[in-house]
Amino acid sequence: MEPKIRGAICMNAHPKGCAEETRRQIRWTQDYFSHHKASKKLERVLVIGASTGYGLASRIAAAFGYGAATIGVSFEKEPSEKRPATPGWYNTRTFDEEAKKAGIPALSFNGDAFSNEMRAKVGDALKSLGGPADLVIYSLASGVRTDPADGTLYRSALKPLGEVYKAKSVDFINGRLGEVEIAPATEEERRATVKVMGGEDWRLWIDYLGAQGLLAPDVKTVAYSYIGPEVTHAVYREGTIGSAKKDLEETAKGLNKELSASGGGAYVSVNKAVVTRASAVIPVVSLYISLLFKVMKQKGVHEGCIEQMVRLFSQRLYGSNEAMPVDTEGRIRIDDWEMREDIQKEVSSLWEKVDDENIDELADLAGYREDFLKIHGFSVPGVDYDAEVDFLNI
Ligand code: NAI
Repeated sequence: MEPKIRGAICMNAHPKGCAEETRRQIRWTQDYFSHHKASKKLERVLVIGASTGYGLASRIAAAFGYGAATIGVSFEKEPSEKRPATPGWYNTRTFDEEAKKAGIPALSFNGDAFSNEMRAKVGDALKSLGGPADLVIYSLASGVRTDPADGTLYRSALKPLGEVYKAKSVDFINGRLGEVEIAPATEEERRATVKVMGGEDWRLWIDYLGAQGLLAPDVKTVAYSYIGPEVTHAVYREGTIGSAKKDLEETAKGLNKELSASGGGAYVSVNKAVVTRASAVIPVVSLYISLLFKVMKQKGVHEGCIEQMVRLFSQRLYGSNEAMPVDTEGRIRIDDWEMREDIQKEVSSLWEKVDDENIDELADLAGYREDFLKIHGFSVPGVDYDAEVDFLNI
């Protein structure tokens, strides 16, 4: 079975490859915590957006690092005899199996996290697991959201605001450099993006669980954000998606005020740029990530999703410091190594120099491609890609 790639999207997923890649993250976590004892046991952790990328890695850290019973919510296509499922479906099956083997309770829901029905299901699931959540991770990346209040469908856009954005970009499959030009978003597109990726739905979750008595007094809730370098600001931080992320940050401040009254807290964690299904489709970001990987690998500080999330749990959320280390805006910064001055300086000097001739030498395109294939279950060591594939099983 071969990957079918169209643009920055891989249309299929290899069941065994996804399973093996999920198991690798579990093994990595178990190995880490066999050398670094977890500071506490977590009872129940809810991860919204739990099947791929940062959400899956968070769930693995919670379960296999902190012994938590986990509830995972995701939205994945199921397989048929003719078509494979989306990668997160296989990842979730594997997670559930491995958790069962380890004797760690896990409940997984496949459906729309933006709906009130899903909130009710998760509420019941928490009750069946014996009580409130210690931690709620919000890791959704979605292009659409139906507002449960009135049924309106909103679509997010990845566009700059105010001005046309032009920048270098790479087709990471054929390695060819080009230039992208993106017209600015309308105010309606900006607002729709805030509706989809801003903080409204996160607040609905926390309000619902709070009203049901399903948040532990010292509950922590964390949503993920990204800031990144100057070169991507116009299309990311200062674009439509950045507008949504700023809304998420405002939501964190409001929630934090309420939850801290009983010893809890709400945070945005600014994570490092990594290759996920969500980040692969953001123009310009793939070139930046390829250059960043080159520099971070050279300096020995490269991390993927699991390394980032284990560091977030062990050195921020449940670290040895009395107070959570945050920046002046109250955000957790686990993008600290990515944003180090020496690293950013080198990446921007490579950004200036990179051209069609030297791209293979200056950028880690091979590493980018490899990660992209792996998140779809391809190019995973130990998997026989010549063997017959059963889409219905892992
Ligand atoms: P991803 O595409 O790997 O994961 C998205 C998750 O959301 C999946 O589990 C998917 O099933 C779930 N999902 C999407 N729509 C849903 C719906 N309607 N109902 C239920 N589940 C749904 O994305 P990634 O990159 O892990 O993103 C997660 C968060 O991390 C996002 O907020 C993103 O902005 C943030 N982040 C990502 C970075 C990156 O470089 N990838 C960097 C920093 C932050």
